[in-house]
Amino acid sequence: MKRFARITGTGSYLPPKIITNSELEKTLDTSDEWITGRTGIKERRVVDGESTCDLALEASKRTLEMAEIRASEIDLIILATTTPDKIFPATATMLQSRIGANCPAFDLQAVCAGFIFALTTAQQYIENGVYKNVLVVGSETFSRIIDWNDRSTAILFGDGAGAVVLSSDNTAGIKYSKISSDGSYLSSLHVNNNYINEIGYVEMSGNEVYKIAVKQLANIAEEILRESNLTASEISWMVPHQANIRIITAIAKRIGLPMSKVILTLETHGNTSAASIPLALDVAVRDGRIKKGDKLLLEGIGAGFSWGGLLVEY
Ligand code: UT7
Repeated sequence: MKRFARITGTGSYLPPKIITNSELEKTLDTSDEWITGRTGIKERRVVDGESTCDLALEASKRTLEMAEIRASEIDLIILATTTPDKIFPATATMLQSRIGANCPAFDLQAVCAGFIFALTTAQQYIENGVYKNVLVVGSETFSRIIDWNDRSTAILFGDGAGAVVLSSDNTAGIKYSKISSDGSYLSSLHVNNNYINEIGYVEMSGNEVYKIAVKQLANIAEEILRESNLTASEISWMVPHQANIRIITAIAKRIGLPMSKVILTLETHGNTSAASIPLALDVAVRDGRIKKGDKLLLEGIGAGFSWGGLLVEY
């Protein structure tokens, strides 16, 4: 019998420490008005000693609880992160041990598109009948690789984690998925160290990233609708990567989706990279906006560039 992949649980976790735009005004040549107007972000969470694995663990526990499975029932853990706790071992294996699972575990790095890439990878294992339950996590502590004196990046990013359990089912949850990369944009968005043991910080040509993000995310949204034979009016919710309200608004406008059907968390989360989509998904599942049977359009783009999207029936 053909196997399909379905999301059976979501969870998320944010570290308690908040940095507001007003606090950033005190140390940077910026203003709450500029940040809010240009990005939609008001505040972000940052770690205060917690690790990427700590955040992933809390999000994962909540996810397993909702999916009603025990850690021993997880067949595979894929952890999307750009900010692993160590170069090695993989943060996913630290999570495997701490949550009490007994399964293969690996990290996946596609920066802000990491969760989309991880979900698409998990889908293959399930649809091919290899595994039954895959824990897919996005966890980031970008605050550790931000130059807090650089106003072009310090205002944007935040820390957090989100996760889903993707399980084998006889009806399709994931109905379409697509990932892409174009590695010719290295200097547009990268960590600026030359050697792995040198300190480096996020460096970005915001404007260049902005234009490519709008173009590629609008293209992938259109492709998902076309390939799924759907119109925008048949989409229940778009759950986009949370980088900039203006990018999200431009995409929604291009496909004719009202903003009332877009899940937004960036006002209080900022850009949490690979964690932003599962965080937004979990917020909307738990507050009751996303319901069983809803058609979700998930999409994101990150440095590389790498981008992708999925059509998911929740
Ligand atoms: O997760 C995927 C990766 N990231 C993204 O998707 C981010 C994509 N890019 C963006 O979101 C936007 O490009 C930014 C929010 C980063 C910047 O917004 P922008 O509208 O593209 O601004 P800009 O870079 O064109 O700068 C406009 C002006 C400049 O001043 P002048 O040259 O016009 O005098 C900047 O120096 O705003 C200035 N500026 C700031 N002013 C106050 C840049 N950053 C700030 C700041 N506060 N934090």
